[in-house]
Amino acid sequence: MIFIVYICLGLIASIIAYGSYILILYPILRFSQMKQKYGNKIKVCFSIGAGILKFYNKDLQNKNDSIYFIRNMHEPNLKAIAFNFGTKVGLSFVDPELQKQILQNPHFYSKVDGPMAITFLFANSIAYATEKEWKRQRLFLGKSFHFEEIKNYFPLIIETCQKTLKKIDQKLIQKEKIDIQILKTCQEVTSEVSFKVFFGSTDETLTIIKRKDGSQTTISNELVQVLIDSYYLFQTDKLALLKWVLLKRKSTNFFLTHGEEQLLNRLKALRQACANIVAKRKEELTQDQSIAKKNFLDQYLIEMANNQNSGITYDEIIDNFSAIYLAGTDTTSNMAGAALYYLSLNQEIQQQAREEIIKVLSVKQKGRMAQQLFSQLAFEDLQNLNLINSILKESLRLMPPAIQSQTKFANHNLKIGEFDIKKGDLVTNHFSYNLSNPEVFPNPSVFNPHRWMAANHQEMVNFTPFSQGPRNCIGQHLAMIEGKCIIASILLQYEILPNPAEKVVKQMRIVYGFQHDNLVFFKKINS
Ligand code: HEM
Repeated sequence: MIFIVYICLGLIASIIAYGSYILILYPILRFSQMKQKYGNKIKVCFSIGAGILKFYNKDLQNKNDSIYFIRNMHEPNLKAIAFNFGTKVGLSFVDPELQKQILQNPHFYSKVDGPMAITFLFANSIAYATEKEWKRQRLFLGKSFHFEEIKNYFPLIIETCQKTLKKIDQKLIQKEKIDIQILKTCQEVTSEVSFKVFFGSTDETLTIIKRKDGSQTTISNELVQVLIDSYYLFQTDKLALLKWVLLKRKSTNFFLTHGEEQLLNRLKALRQACANIVAKRKEELTQDQSIAKKNFLDQYLIEMANNQNSGITYDEIIDNFSAIYLAGTDTTSNMAGAALYYLSLNQEIQQQAREEIIKVLSVKQKGRMAQQLFSQLAFEDLQNLNLINSILKESLRLMPPAIQSQTKFANHNLKIGEFDIKKGDLVTNHFSYNLSNPEVFPNPSVFNPHRWMAANHQEMVNFTPFSQGPRNCIGQHLAMIEGKCIIASILLQYEILPNPAEKVVKQMRIVYGFQHDNLVFFKKINS
């Protein structure tokens, strides 16, 4: 009996010793080696287990901004942040030249697995595909994201902006001004655009998901919610967290916990709902290919029907819907929402931007009201919205929805500049560091869109909110077009006023953005 007790105690001591080694001793040893070798070229962000996440949380609580420490870290020699996460250590590069080296060679790295919903929904998508498979998908999808192709979605964007603002107009009948949930308002537009750009004007009944408890929701709502719940599961279900830490995407292949099982059922229902849309459209196109539209689904199905070697699968279509919807919706709405917030604080710039859109449309005016005037906006007019474009860039600089590139593992031992990376180390880039560099952007915390009207070379090099290299953001033109339409449509109809009662908190969640939403008032402009 005593023998068994000794074995158990020995086992527990070994687990504690091993745990302490991988979680504490190993990162500390690696960081002290790095510090010796690179001196003040690196800054270390170490915290047991949570690593750099702890720094985001601390600054969120103390400074109301998750990336306050990044914004205030600038030193002329600094090239990288050394950080840990779980049992891994890594480097996040802040030097633009080194960032470029990493992003030009994506095949040297593998993406880190996200929680269950990410791998279940996106594993076959462009966002997670590797090398050859990614190249094929990027080539195919790239055609639909080409600037000239996006022209086809322009009427949809205009119509969606008008539909959203009509609801605000209804509320403004009774009141002179109302407070506005800016992110939610922008999200209404970006969500509908992302969905329809992919699936076209799909039959509404096909987009409804029935939950087990009898409630109903739309595919897009469920997609967002299940992703949030997938992260939340790790807080409430520690066994699921442990399985995921040990087995990553294979963790749901064995001994499902109750929480995992529920989530998996929802994910299956979601995929099935998407599969129904795909199957119905396939049937329609099989009868008559000439009805094909310019949406992504039709382009996929036509390519599959006409090219036996296309390599496209139904799973890939569904995965790319999820990836494109999630990559394009919250990011774009946060960019436009941040622009509205900064415009509310800068009335002079707001008026200049309003004058810009009025001037662009003035030739078409002929006594039209503001709402009707917006419907006259043509795709070609967008290139004349210089200030509005600069306002969006300045908002991306101050509130970048993606503060860093997706964290990856190094596939081999590597050298980035003078930095040695070991196989399995984490590698990323914090773009947010460059966007607030006072040497490049004087008075970096000041909202000054005019700096973009005559941007210099260094500003451009440091400005990579859409990342860079072959795996940069495929949807960046679409995002900027949506952003310009949202801002222009609002400026034509409403004065944007600040809401001093709302606390401004900048939080890192899936994207970086404002925690509270009622940040501005809209007041109808009497035209
Ligand atoms: C302001 C809005 C946006 C921002 C700031 C943004 C930012 C980014 C960034 C930083 C990346 C690289 C991520 C990485 O490190 O791997 C990325 C990739 C991507 N983005 Fe965006 N994005 C925006 C809007 C959109 C839109 C509107 C779409 C589509 C409708 C989209 C679709 C994608 C896709 C599919 C990828 C993966 C590309 C690949 O791996 O080849 N994004 N985005």
